[in-house]
Amino acid sequence: MAAAIALSLRGRPASAPNPNVGCILVNAGRVVGRGWTQAGGRPHAEAMALVAAGDAARDATAYVSLEPCAHASPRGPCCTDALIAAGVARVVIAAQDPDARTNGQGIARLRDAGIEVVLNILAPEARAAMAPWWTRQGQGRPFVTLKLATSLDGCIARADGASRWITGARARAHGHLERARHQAILVGRGTLEADSPALDVRLPGLEDRSPQRLLLTHGVAPAGWTAIASPESIVGVDLLLVEGGAGAASAFLAADRVDRLLLYRAPIVIGAGRAALGDIGLADLADAHGRWRLADSRLLGSDRLDVYERVREGL
Ligand SMILES: NC(=O)c1ccc[n+]([C@@H]2O[C@H](COP(=O)([O-])OP(=O)(O)OC[C@H]3O[C@@H](n4cnc5c(N)ncnc54)[C@H](OP(=O)(O)O)[C@@H]3O)[C@@H](O)[C@H]2O)c1
Repeated sequence: MAAAIALSLRGRPASAPNPNVGCILVNAGRVVGRGWTQAGGRPHAEAMALVAAGDAARDATAYVSLEPCAHASPRGPCCTDALIAAGVARVVIAAQDPDARTNGQGIARLRDAGIEVVLNILAPEARAAMAPWWTRQGQGRPFVTLKLATSLDGCIARADGASRWITGARARAHGHLERARHQAILVGRGTLEADSPALDVRLPGLEDRSPQRLLLTHGVAPAGWTAIASPESIVGVDLLLVEGGAGAASAFLAADRVDRLLLYRAPIVIGAGRAALGDIGLADLADAHGRWRLADSRLLGSDRLDVYERVREGL
C-alpha cells in the first residue's frame, strides 16, 4: 500500500478535480500492473493498472489508495465493475471514498461479487497524499501551502522592500519545484508592485507546469492575473501556493487557511527590515501552541528549509 500511495503522488496536482489515486496489482507475489490517476482525472488508477496487467489481473490482489468508484460516468468506466470483470480475488483499500456517489458502495459491490475486501490500510498516509482533494471534499476550500523566505531574524525584505535575494540558488530551485507541484500561486498586491514576479517554473523540462497566477487585492488584477478578494473566496483550485508578502501571508494565517508552511531560512541578518508577518489576530500566546508540527527539515546549500504542517482533526 505504501508503494500505491507513492504512485498516487504522481497524479498530484494534474488529476484535479479528481482525487490522485494509486493502484498496484499483485499476482502470485509479482507486481503485474501499476497505475495512478491521469491528468484531468481520467483514466483512473485502477483502469491504468488493469490495462497494464491484462490477463494477469485474474486472481490478483489490488492495492488501491482510495475506495474504487462505484458510479457510472460518461468520462470513463466504473472501477468497481472493471475490477469485478477482470476477476481480481482481493481488493485492499486505504481510505473509504467520502464522495456520496461511492462512499461504501464500491466496497459493498466488490463483496457482493465474492471479492475479499480489506479496509483501512495506511488510511492516514493515503489521506495525506490526497490532502488537496480531501480538503475540498470536506471543507470546500483549497489545500494551502505558505512559502516564506526569511533571514535569521525573521525578515522577508529590507526596510526599503528589497528582497532579492534572501536565499541562495538551491533554495530558490526548490521553490520552483514547489511551484510545479501546485495548481495556482497567489501573491499580494504589494509583492506584485515591489517585485513584478513572473511566478513561473524555471526548471528544465518543467516549464509547462507553471501554475495559474492569483493576486490578493481589493482592486482589479492586471492581464494574466486573477483577482482574489480574500482567502475565503478562492474557487476551482485544490492546491494553492501562497508566496507572500507579509500582508497576504498574514491574511491567510489569520483566516486559518494555511495547511503547510515552507520556511526557507538564510544565514543572514537584516536588522531593521520587514517582518515576515503582521497581525494574525492572536489573542493569547497559549493559542499559538499545538498548531504546527515539523514534518521535514533539510539544508539547501547554506539555507535551511523547515516544513511545518497544520495540526488538524480528521486529516
Ligand atoms: N522573502 C519572501 O518570502 C517574500 C515573498 C514575497 C514578498 N516579499 C516582500 O514583501 C514585500 C511586500 O509585502 P506586503 O505585505 O507589502 O504586500 P503583500 O502581502 O504582497 O500585499 C499586500 C496587499 O494585498 C492586498 N490585500 C487584499 N486583501 C488583503 C487582505 N485580506 N489582507 C492583506 N492584504 C490584502 C492589499 O492590496 P490592495 O490595496 O490592492 O487591496 C495589500 O496592500 C515586498 O518587499 C516583497 O519584496 C518577500
